[in-house]
Amino acid sequence: MGTKGRILVTGATGYIGSHTTVELVNAGYEVIGIDNFSNSSPSMLEGMEKITGRKIPFIRTDCCDKAGMEEVFRKYPDIRASIHFAACKAVGESVREPVKYFRNNIVSLLNLLDLSMKGEGKGIVFSSSCTVYGEPDPENLPIKETAPVKPAVSPYGRTKQMNEEILMDCVRACPSLKVISLRYFNPIGAHPSALIGEMPNGEPQNLVPYITQTAAGLRKELRIWGNDYDTPDGTCIRDYIYVCDLAKAHVAAVGRLLDGRQENRFDIFNLGTGKGLSVLELVQNFIRATGADVPYRFAGRREGDIVKVWADPGKANSILGWKADTPIDEVLLSAWNWEKKVRGI
Ligand code: UD1
Repeated sequence: MGTKGRILVTGATGYIGSHTTVELVNAGYEVIGIDNFSNSSPSMLEGMEKITGRKIPFIRTDCCDKAGMEEVFRKYPDIRASIHFAACKAVGESVREPVKYFRNNIVSLLNLLDLSMKGEGKGIVFSSSCTVYGEPDPENLPIKETAPVKPAVSPYGRTKQMNEEILMDCVRACPSLKVISLRYFNPIGAHPSALIGEMPNGEPQNLVPYITQTAAGLRKELRIWGNDYDTPDGTCIRDYIYVCDLAKAHVAAVGRLLDGRQENRFDIFNLGTGKGLSVLELVQNFIRATGADVPYRFAGRREGDIVKVWADPGKANSILGWKADTPIDEVLLSAWNWEKKVRGI
């Protein structure tokens, strides 16, 4: 049985939420997962239960539904902290439907805050993104937490910035509230069991799901958006972080919130490997690691793309005592094993 206290995980059946819930249970926490299944499915719960060998307490609800959230907190008065994943995250869709993004991503956090600021106050770990840094100035690479936040290129990115500001104001207003904002770089891969993984709706926008679906024959070819950038091979550079490593950083962050080591009541950590990889390098690594065939061609640049960004994870390494160190080939193989499992290959 868990002994470390109960953690509310919003978006628990989503990509990062499911991997984190598994790590929390394995680390001895009790959880209560919630999700509205807007971008995930109940089958993810089965995978999580198989991996952990435990029943995962779960309630289907929407964080924007205040009454539903009140019910969760009423039913589980022992919630000590929350990890708030639940959010819409498609950059292109956010440009077309900004109101949906502002309503969903902001209101859900406000509801969680209302409930977290009651009583003795609870910790919140917030899912943020390196998107808040925009296109970093070259002298700021690798990116530290102190690098300037730049105007967001999409409503999605703006919701992350706004939510961080909302959290800072609430911490000022509520002396018992502590918040850790985790700025993720590019999460990829799947649990080694291939029982949970990323499940994009429709045509994937992100690179690795597009690669695995192309290798599985669902897509004709991968288009690499732009090979004329100012980078060694002309393609964009990102910091790809294994989703299981990322999940463990959440466990470390929650641990700090609960055991009192977290002194700053609002803190930010960049979560990345510290290593930049170009799109072309990633594709070539995938082909080498899996032996799968990935037809690809170079196409025009994608609007709004950042040219190069990678993390300085030094603060997370030293303060959270955490490091993303799974070799990239292993990570890419896990993504491929998951795709094969889903497709029955
Ligand atoms: C984007 C968002 C980020 C968000 C994340 C979540 C931006 C600048 N960043 O990350 O804030 O948290 O999605 O989903 O919008 N690529 C191809 N072909 C493809 C797909 C991608 O070449 O079919 C390239 C892209 O041009 C990019 C790299 O692969 O250079 C990574 O793309 P992607 O996986 O979409 O992530 P980001 O754009 O970095």
